[in-house]
Amino acid sequence: MSESYQPIIWRDDTLFLLDQRQLPQVETFVAVTDLPQTATAIREMVVRGAPCIGFTAIFGMALWVRGQASLTLESCRNAASELIAARPTAVNLSFEVNRCLDLMENHLSEKGSSSGLFDRLVAFGKLQIDESQSKNTAMAKLGFAELERTFGDRKWRLMTHCNTGFLACGSLGTALGVISYAHRLGRIDYVLADETRPYLQGSRLTAFELAKEKIPYYLVVEGAASYLLSRGQVDAIFVGADRIAANGDTANKVGTATLAIIAKTYNIPFYVVAPVSSFDTSIPDGSHIEIELRAESELTEHKGQMIAPVGARAINPSFDVTDHRYITGIICEKGLINPSIMGNLLKVVNS
Ligand code: MRU
Repeated sequence: MSESYQPIIWRDDTLFLLDQRQLPQVETFVAVTDLPQTATAIREMVVRGAPCIGFTAIFGMALWVRGQASLTLESCRNAASELIAARPTAVNLSFEVNRCLDLMENHLSEKGSSSGLFDRLVAFGKLQIDESQSKNTAMAKLGFAELERTFGDRKWRLMTHCNTGFLACGSLGTALGVISYAHRLGRIDYVLADETRPYLQGSRLTAFELAKEKIPYYLVVEGAASYLLSRGQVDAIFVGADRIAANGDTANKVGTATLAIIAKTYNIPFYVVAPVSSFDTSIPDGSHIEIELRAESELTEHKGQMIAPVGARAINPSFDVTDHRYITGIICEKGLINPSIMGNLLKVVNS
């Protein structure tokens, strides 16, 4: 995929988001001009994936500042809360919004007014997307080195869950970044992409990205994991993260924990790839992570058509938490973390 392919574009003082709800059939952008529209775009998954949610929120804060005749720290905090409430699990959202609040507080105390604050927030948002490129490349290289160390110089058969590429990260990607990087070096035999029920991020988005990059892939249903792993069809699994606790417990798209447990059963290495902005070291373990419950209609309907009996009820947790004991390694831009070594995560993250 071309590096210029962007799910988030800032142009003419307007935020344009590639409407990921319509992929892969339609490639169209939605214009976002204020904070409520930004929160809606995040909640309704026009934009999704932990890093991109965070980047979008920065521009949302800038748009809010532009609409204020005057602002106080309290009104800034209220605006921040509106954005953070849009999706509760991905910590990147509050991470970036809180950095905006710090920037706003410093600006107000330095300048005594909000003049120039809009431009500073826009520049901050652009910088974060630019910097994600080098961070994701660093993670891709670490993942590649780990694969070479484990499997040598043959081609690899890798599995992934949900979507962690350009569309989720704004550049290269995290787990899919490792895969893209390995493909560019000619080292991918094939990728197995989980369909990722019920929102189909795998078949709609990951397959879209793999196809654009001409990476050989097969779609599989999550339920096929035990069969495929037991038959030796997967060398290693790479997934992203929405929030990683201090002990390495990792929230990611629902189905990730099931996959990790199956991987442990069949002795297949299981890696989480995520930037430091996805870590929440304020919580000791995954039991403290709020899991987003999404609409029942995501299970009972498809494109407005009922696929379950009228009146069917559904429970739709959008994420689950993988216990760190099932994770072989967590790769961030600062290094590879072995979550089974107590304190290793904090050591690497704080290095
Ligand atoms: O609900 P989504 O599509 O925002 O969920 C995305 C995921 O779970 C990704 O795996 C995660 O955000 C990591 S993105 C690099």
